[in-house]
Amino acid sequence: MNNFWMTFTVAIMLPLLFLLASCDTRNTATVSDSRVTRSSESPVRFTELRNPEKVDSVLALMTLEEKVGQLNLLSSGFAETGPVLSEEYRDMIFEAKLGGVFNAHTVEHTLDLQRIAVEETRLGIPLLFAFDVIRGHRTLFPVALAESSTWDPELIKKASRIAAKEATAAGLHWTFAPMIDVSPDARWGRIVESHGEDPLLNAIFGVARIEGFQGDNLYDVTTMMATAKHFAAYGVPEAGRDYNTVDISERTLREIHLPPFKAAVDAGVRSFMTAFNEYDGVPATGSDFLFNRVLRDEWDFDGFVVTDYTAIMEMMPHGYARDDAHAAELSINANVDMDMMSQIFLNELPGLIEQGIVKEEQVDMAVARILDMKFELGLFEDPYRYSDYDREAETIMREDFLEFALEVAQKSIVLLKNDNNVLPLSKDPGHIAIIGPLGDNQYDLLGSWSAAAEWSDNVTLLQGIRNAVPENVRVSHVDGVPLSLDDDSRDGFEEALRLARRSDVVIMALGEGRHMSGEAASRTSLDLPGAQQELLEAVHATGTPVVLVLMAGRPLDIRWADEHIPAIVNAWYLGTRTGDAIASVLFGDHNPGGKLTISWPHNVGQIPNYYYAKKTGRPKDPNQRYTSKFIDAPNAPLYPFGYGLSYTTYEYDNLRLSESEITNTGSLTVSVDVTNTGNRTGDEIVQLYTRKMVASVTQPVRRLRDFTRMTLEPGQTETVTFTLNAEQLYYLDQQLEPVLEPGTVMVFVGPNVAETLEASFEVR
Ligand code: NOJ
Repeated sequence: MNNFWMTFTVAIMLPLLFLLASCDTRNTATVSDSRVTRSSESPVRFTELRNPEKVDSVLALMTLEEKVGQLNLLSSGFAETGPVLSEEYRDMIFEAKLGGVFNAHTVEHTLDLQRIAVEETRLGIPLLFAFDVIRGHRTLFPVALAESSTWDPELIKKASRIAAKEATAAGLHWTFAPMIDVSPDARWGRIVESHGEDPLLNAIFGVARIEGFQGDNLYDVTTMMATAKHFAAYGVPEAGRDYNTVDISERTLREIHLPPFKAAVDAGVRSFMTAFNEYDGVPATGSDFLFNRVLRDEWDFDGFVVTDYTAIMEMMPHGYARDDAHAAELSINANVDMDMMSQIFLNELPGLIEQGIVKEEQVDMAVARILDMKFELGLFEDPYRYSDYDREAETIMREDFLEFALEVAQKSIVLLKNDNNVLPLSKDPGHIAIIGPLGDNQYDLLGSWSAAAEWSDNVTLLQGIRNAVPENVRVSHVDGVPLSLDDDSRDGFEEALRLARRSDVVIMALGEGRHMSGEAASRTSLDLPGAQQELLEAVHATGTPVVLVLMAGRPLDIRWADEHIPAIVNAWYLGTRTGDAIASVLFGDHNPGGKLTISWPHNVGQIPNYYYAKKTGRPKDPNQRYTSKFIDAPNAPLYPFGYGLSYTTYEYDNLRLSESEITNTGSLTVSVDVTNTGNRTGDEIVQLYTRKMVASVTQPVRRLRDFTRMTLEPGQTETVTFTLNAEQLYYLDQQLEPVLEPGTVMVFVGPNVAETLEASFEVR
């Protein structure tokens, strides 16, 4: 029996220390009225634990140094052979100065580190292993922006289950996902990680991922803890520049940015991550308002909060914390529990407690929340239960996972244009040319966050097309240009144009490299990087028919292509099965049904151009100079929110409401008949929007309220019925209280936000 198990057994029989004694004060903590808690007067927010006796029995044995060690999270590095932990950090495990390690995966690595924590430290408290398993572990699914284009949360829940199965088989307990930051700004690189610009979609997909990762029971070794991140409003930095200041009203924060996080709490997410940005002058990582008032007091969140990378330390350059000690005080008093990479909790909290600046109960509460999760994961019972060589070998990249990754990739594709039914192509169209730097490029297909995926597993477009067509069909590829933001070399043009001229069809594979979107990858331009635009125009000028396939982490400025290229397929980044998925759409083996979850800007100057804008007192009138419009571009995006084409067509008819009026606690149903009017089976995504015409606070011109994705055979008509509850329509009045005031509500149903049938009802 090692030290921990011995002391644990004894501890159960010991009189429990103050935490047990203070049980009756839990959940009755007072709510601070002050906006910023800066002193030892800060009330401690107690959380209802899941395993209170067990947690208390461990806590009772811990020294202050061991406690602050639990609050410390550091990263493993990577070598050729896989993840490795630096000697310095490894020593810290021996010294019980780490509560968890992230970026550490594989059974071998996690077993090695866990053994030190469990067998070589006084109490043997197991480590938590975390990783950014964002869109798959080794089998890579599409990026979130693509996955949200499926409008199919069940599908994404299943993809997250698969990710959890693979990740937990590699020793992991905890993922830093989902990212549910509402992202209306295509300049911001992390739009690729989001579920687009809409609050409801971010909430629904966030919950789907949480349920996929966490399953029904965290004790099950195939499930892992999820993290709702980044709290809060990280998706709207000024100018779209990552980490920049966020300055939005509390109304916008609460109506647009917080709902996905509230939904995550309601779905039982076990951890939250702080955002890098400030909100209303306070860096999120030290925000009493966000973490104490909203997350703990208003929402009763019972998990733990981890900072983002070095975010505690960053409160100094923000100009909010004077020094390390002050930063530690601000964060711990905001009920932020775990310090990722700053090591400031570890170094500063003992001194702050000794000086009476921070209460020891505050630290105990943070430790308790973390231990609680370690108990829930079963780590105290068997610290090695996730690290199993056989399970790892059987689970990673299972054949059925790869098949499912293909299905998700296919359903994520959005067909933007298809004049004269250029697509689908025949499988024997003569000589096929694939031109562009994303045509046969396994590495960039990884896109943003690829966890343990290996680029060499990715199926490129060239490989996918070769897999799809008969062997005798000639398929050639040239890059034509480098994939670069600063290299606009045209050296490859000649070869590309020669190939275009002697081919029967050209598939242009253009877009962004994997590091041109994602964290710290904001852009001020949405242009195709380098000389790609010029190459596209030159290839088009050869007269050979061109199909454009876009792969990127954000919508790009494709005005020219929209005017000149008959068919445009938007693929985002689709993961391991990219080439197979795109080929299946190009040749019609899969009928595309994905739709945009962002308004695709006409050009960068329109941003932000989200659909839930308000009307202004001078709505656009092309004939009136002094109305709200651009003089050099339309107001409308190039492609509206919710837009996407199919190889078949649909007709919407007979929109009807069950009631012509309801009270503000009532409900009604909205029905519409949708018919597949083409000659192929297809998936249609039916969308329901509303607008409150007049209110004590002006309301957006549309808000998405519900949607469904369904399959229709040629000629088939289905009646779709949505139930609309008055509560879904509540907005915040001038006192920020939820209301639905009397008056007219317009209802819109259609294939995207810009093409809808309309009806209305009254709220009495
Ligand atoms: C910083 C990113 O903002 C966050 O999303 C991620 O989880 C952490 N790094 C850990 O990799």
